[in-house]
Amino acid sequence: MASTYGAAQVLVASNRGPVSYTVGEDGSLDAKRGGGGLVSGLSAIGSDADALWVCSALSDGDREAVRRGVGEDGVRMLDIPADVHADAYNGIANSALWFVHHMLYQTPLEPVFDAEFRRQWTSYETYNRAFAEALAEEAAQGAAVVVQDYHLTLVPGMLRELRPDLRIGHFSHTPWAPPEYFRMLPDDVAGQVLRGMLGADRLGFLTQRWADAFTACAEQFAGGLGGTRIGVHGLGADADFLRKRSHEADVEERMAALREEIGEGRRTIVRVDRTELSKNIVRGLLAYRRLLETHAEWRERVVHVAFAYPSRQDLAVYRDYTAEVRRVSEEINAEYGTPGWTPVVLNLKDDFARSLAAYRLADVALVNPIRDGMNLVAKEVPVVSDAGCALVLSREAGAFEELGEDAIVVNPYDVTGTAAALHEALSMGPEERAERSKRLSAAATALPPAQWFLDQLDALRG
Ligand code: G6P
Repeated sequence: MASTYGAAQVLVASNRGPVSYTVGEDGSLDAKRGGGGLVSGLSAIGSDADALWVCSALSDGDREAVRRGVGEDGVRMLDIPADVHADAYNGIANSALWFVHHMLYQTPLEPVFDAEFRRQWTSYETYNRAFAEALAEEAAQGAAVVVQDYHLTLVPGMLRELRPDLRIGHFSHTPWAPPEYFRMLPDDVAGQVLRGMLGADRLGFLTQRWADAFTACAEQFAGGLGGTRIGVHGLGADADFLRKRSHEADVEERMAALREEIGEGRRTIVRVDRTELSKNIVRGLLAYRRLLETHAEWRERVVHVAFAYPSRQDLAVYRDYTAEVRRVSEEINAEYGTPGWTPVVLNLKDDFARSLAAYRLADVALVNPIRDGMNLVAKEVPVVSDAGCALVLSREAGAFEELGEDAIVVNPYDVTGTAAALHEALSMGPEERAERSKRLSAAATALPPAQWFLDQLDALRG
């Protein structure tokens, strides 16, 4: 991997990088490498490619690592001041931009783009500029740079000005808002975002639907795509990694524990999400409650294992949402639970091995987001589940484009419809379920992360 300035031939830029640090009590730094599609995608290009990953320091541990000059080969962490990062990440990226693309605003009261927003926007510009400058410094002549996601929409335009020789790509892991929603952003900000993105040679999206929405926004608010090309790359599940990882000892241990909690002979409905507003966890719980209410035959015979990992807890709406997920789960358990049966097993602590154990045990996977770029859980559970699972899938998830045929498709707002879908999924015969699961798994793994990344590089260079 590249270590000297100006030597990197392939560069990735993202807010969250592949590694994070914590400071131990004795002052030592502990590095933790993240999983995820991008990490495995990038490792596939290997050491012969002179690759560099530019990311932001996110925690005190990360900032300490940068200060001490501790780091991994092939990764450059930017020490962006904590307050600038907080404004850019919490204020602009995860509030304004995330909310617009996922259409999450409750419009009678929100959004309010006031002086506070303007201040945060200035930080977002500073934060994007720090990335553009680092990339300009690190990239070899004619190198390929792939910028990731809504945190870094201004980077392509800024980098183009600094280094016109580079091949610049940008990839969106989120949906893109349709023009009538996107134009909620102040006109100058909307224009800056679009022009920033259009500084790239090529823009990648997870589905045609999000690519079309971007094109429509560019046509209406920025005079068209100009010379920028658009591509669709439907990131798939990493089957090799998942199959191997899900048979390791810590997962087996957790399977034994989970089986005990679920109880002998019961069906399992699994969901795994960050506790994220767009994931629709509360309506999923309400649908499960409706199932128990209207189909008494499932009482004592099914358990809903729900993982809702903490996420973006600096934002009050996320804390409130987490509390609501907990409250509704407890209500269902109080209403229907019996001494030998807990209807909802809610997991709020991050435990990847335990979620893989749940994947293996899943009879039904519930993936019901109100809007989602792709949703990799929908793709992962069919690959991992031991006996094959039925998939209840929202038509608003990007994964619907590839998995819609063999899933049981729901409108995520329709709680009674989702309850009916859960009943249908639980009632599916074992043969049909196994067959559908096999087809889901094949579709889900059509474009593994490494190939997903290499396809983008080829297209960028071609
Ligand atoms: C989404 C975004 C990613 C982000 C992830 C986790 O998938 O597209 O860019 O990294 O959520 O969110 P976080 O805010 O914890 O990085």
